[in-house]
Amino acid sequence: MKNILCNIVNPVSPEEIQFLPKQVISISESKISAIIPLPEFQGILDEDRSNEYALPGFIDLHTHLSQYYIRGFYEPALLPWLNKYVFPEEERSKNMAYAEKLSREFFSAMRKAGTTTCVIYTAPYFTACDIAFEIAKETGIKALIGMTMMDMNCPENLKQDSNKTLEDSILLYEKWHGKNTDLDYIFTPRFAPTCSLKLMKEVAKYAVEHNAWIQTHLSENKEEIELVKEIFGLKNYTEVYQKAGLLTQHSIFAHCIHLSNEELQILAENKCKIAHCPDSNFFLKSGEFPLQKIENAGIEYGLGSDVGAGTSLNMLHHTKMMNYRQSSYPVLPAKALYHITLGSAKLLGLESKIGSIETGKEADIVFLKPQRNYPLENNGISQLVFCGQDFSITKTLAGGRN
Ligand code: GUN
Ligand code: FE
Repeated sequence: MKNILCNIVNPVSPEEIQFLPKQVISISESKISAIIPLPEFQGILDEDRSNEYALPGFIDLHTHLSQYYIRGFYEPALLPWLNKYVFPEEERSKNMAYAEKLSREFFSAMRKAGTTTCVIYTAPYFTACDIAFEIAKETGIKALIGMTMMDMNCPENLKQDSNKTLEDSILLYEKWHGKNTDLDYIFTPRFAPTCSLKLMKEVAKYAVEHNAWIQTHLSENKEEIELVKEIFGLKNYTEVYQKAGLLTQHSIFAHCIHLSNEELQILAENKCKIAHCPDSNFFLKSGEFPLQKIENAGIEYGLGSDVGAGTSLNMLHHTKMMNYRQSSYPVLPAKALYHITLGSAKLLGLESKIGSIETGKEADIVFLKPQRNYPLENNGISQLVFCGQDFSITKTLAGGRN
C-alpha cells in the first residue's frame, strides 16, 4: 500500500472536469484502493505531492511504434512521405535487435510523456510485433498492439504473402489475446492502397467471428482517396472497407478528414470509432478534421499522436493541436482533456478500469508539476492544455508501477 498526497484533475464529460484539491490516493497492488481528502486522512503519507496535479494516465488511440525514430522527417504529403521515410524505416525492424531497442525506447518515452494506454501499429514483421508485446508486458502499460499488414503496392521487403500475413496475425492474436488483462491484439491492415480486398475480407471475417479489434487508416489525403477509387473502382473510400466487412463497432479508423455525409452516416450506423490525429494532419498537410460534423453524426472519437507523422508522444501537445487545428470551432480544454482520458477509455470499452482517478480503477496516474503555483481550479486546467510545456511530468504510474 502506498499513500500519495496530490491534487486530482478528473475528467467527467466533454463539458466538465473536476478539480479535487489535497487528496490522498491510496494504491494497493495495481489499483486505487481509496481516495481520501487530506483533513480526513489518518494513515501515513508515503509521498507528499501537494504541489503537483494528478491526472489519469493519458490514452493515445493511434501511434506507430515503428516510426518513433523518424518523427519530424519532413515530406509534406502522405504518399511521398510513406515512400521516402516510412517504408525504409519500417524495413529496419526486420532486424530483431533493432526492433527490440526501438520498442524499449518507445515504451519508455511513452511513459515519460504520461501515456499509460495506447493503440499501436508495429512494423510488418511477426517478431517486431511480438517483441513489442513482450516489452509492454514488463511495464504495466495497457496496449492494443497489431502487426501492420500489407500485401500489395509497397516495397518487396515489406510486402507479405496474403495468407502468411493473416496466419501471422492470427498467431499473434492467439498468443496475446486473453492472456494478460493489460494487453490485447488488434488486427492492422495498413490501409486500402496496400491491402488486397481478399486480405481485408479475411481479416474482417476472422475479427468479427472473434469480436476482435481492427485498426486502419481512412480518408487522410486527397491523392490517397483518388488512388483507392482507382484501385477498387468504387464510389468512395468507406465503401471499400464496407465491402470488405471491416466496418465494426471494434474498428478504429484514423484521420477521416475528407468523408462525405453519406460515408459519415455509414460509419455512424456501424458504430465505428475514429482516431483523430490533428498534429499529423497538419504535418502532412492532409487537411482539417471535420470535428463538428463528426460530433453531429454521433461518431465516437478520441485523440491519437500518430507518431511518426505526429511529432510528439506527449498527449497534452495533441490536446492543444486539437484546438489549434480547428479554424473556427473552438475546442474547450475540458473536451480536449476528455479525449485523451475518459472519452478514449469509453471508446475502448475500458471506462470501468481506466480514464479517471477513482477508487477501484487501475492506478494509472500521471503527476504534473507546474513551474509555479497555478490556481488550477480557475484557469489552470486551461493552462494544462495550452501551456503543457510549463508542467513537468514528475512520475507516471501504470498499474501502480513506476
Ligand atoms: N496511411 C497509411 N499508412 C500510414 C502511416 O504510417 N501514417 C499515416 N499518417 N498515414 C498512413
Ligand atoms: Fe497512422
